[in-house]
Amino acid sequence: MQSHEAMIRVNYSGIMAGMQGPDHGISMHRLKAYAPLAGSAYRAVRAMRGKGMLGWTELPYNQGEVLATISHTAEHIQKTFESFVVLGIGGSALGPIAVHQALNHPHYNALPSSKRTGPRFYVEDNIDPERMKALLDVIDVRKTCFNVITKSGGTAETMSQYLMISELLKQAVGAGWEKHIIATTDPEKGNLNRLAQAHGFNLFGIPSSVGGRFSQLSPVGLLPAAVCGIDIHALLKGAADMDARCQSDDVMTNPALLEAMMQFILWTEKAVNIHVIMPYADSLKYMADWFSQLWAESLGKKITRKGAVAHHGQTPVKALGVTDQHSQLQLYTEGPLDKITVLLGVDEYKETITIPKRYGDMPSLGFLGGITHNALIQTEQRATEYALTKAGRMNMTLTLPKVNEQTLGQLLYFFEVATAFAGELLNINAFDQPGVEEGKDATYALFGRPGYEEKKKELDAAPAKDAKFII
Ligand code: PA5
Repeated sequence: MQSHEAMIRVNYSGIMAGMQGPDHGISMHRLKAYAPLAGSAYRAVRAMRGKGMLGWTELPYNQGEVLATISHTAEHIQKTFESFVVLGIGGSALGPIAVHQALNHPHYNALPSSKRTGPRFYVEDNIDPERMKALLDVIDVRKTCFNVITKSGGTAETMSQYLMISELLKQAVGAGWEKHIIATTDPEKGNLNRLAQAHGFNLFGIPSSVGGRFSQLSPVGLLPAAVCGIDIHALLKGAADMDARCQSDDVMTNPALLEAMMQFILWTEKAVNIHVIMPYADSLKYMADWFSQLWAESLGKKITRKGAVAHHGQTPVKALGVTDQHSQLQLYTEGPLDKITVLLGVDEYKETITIPKRYGDMPSLGFLGGITHNALIQTEQRATEYALTKAGRMNMTLTLPKVNEQTLGQLLYFFEVATAFAGELLNINAFDQPGVEEGKDATYALFGRPGYEEKKKELDAAPAKDAKFII
């Protein structure tokens, strides 16, 4: 395991009675009373490791051969192509975006190729026609590799992009267009798998036991990361280090169990139904998007495993420190007492900027001179923690010693395991998404896809929007 200094720290003082007061905060006594429940959630997750939809728990350990193929393919792409485009959505897109943004230059695509660690990188996770047109304005499809990522192989958004891009490639490249496409999908079934077999696309499998939002450490996230020069072995090592820290049924030593238990208590006892995630680092901005999908889609469930109607789930909200101190923080400190703010801090930023010492004769401006932006952002984070606590608002802070492959691997795995524990505590299935499927099915039915006739009838019978309510 990494030395203690290289590990993420979780500071939950801002939830405890010591800071929030005995009535509002959670006492150690209260937390200890939950030990049996925490223990059974821990044991349930441990018993399911690597099985059912918990295949993701083993990704740090079981991808030896795949990793070699990913590295080899990434090297080939780096040598051959000018741009690399991911076509995917949801769990097939948010991880690749988050990891790239966290570890690569903030203006990566604008850098000259000599300063980039790979081809230009784009993730097309929407079907807004203006966006696809804009992409085609800046890439040359003849010099582009497209990584089509869809676990099911049938998602309308991604497959519609595939249909369009494959047609463009045929026209622009002619023979050999197939070499511009890499399919990442179910290794055995689905439309994309069939197409990959038929056309001979390079194919990476997503294990059937790994769901979309838990797939970042599979080829879904590892290939795009490797193409952009990210050390995927270090990413997986970080995940394994976090896994090692989460091998205990004691919330005092297992950080993911602690996070799950805290959110469980806040949600069930204090109606804290909004989980704000607020990185104090631009590099982690898109980790908040990735987390939001994980937390929302996994825990937002109508029924428990016993069939009881529960409507569980906290609503994730993304904020960015310090930017959103000047936008959302007012609400967080004085609005409804329904939020926990989880701040993501960083000890050591990749750069240091020192503010020039000027205007010594203007103390209200001059005080900034000589300090660093690093100190300013960290001090503002501390001030936000103080303001939240003073206002009786629950908060906790996760601190990354640095943002690098190891700590990012830790963070990804931390939230995945915390989500699994939270699912157990709530006694729900954290690995399905019936609400998402309903929307997908309705789209298919509306377009008359064979097999969705009954759904179409259901839609036709539903009350229509009334023109009298349009003003
Ligand atoms: O987490 C999930 O399962 C979803 O968000 C999926 O990732 C998303 O719907 C895309 O599905 P697919 O990868 O099958 O195209």
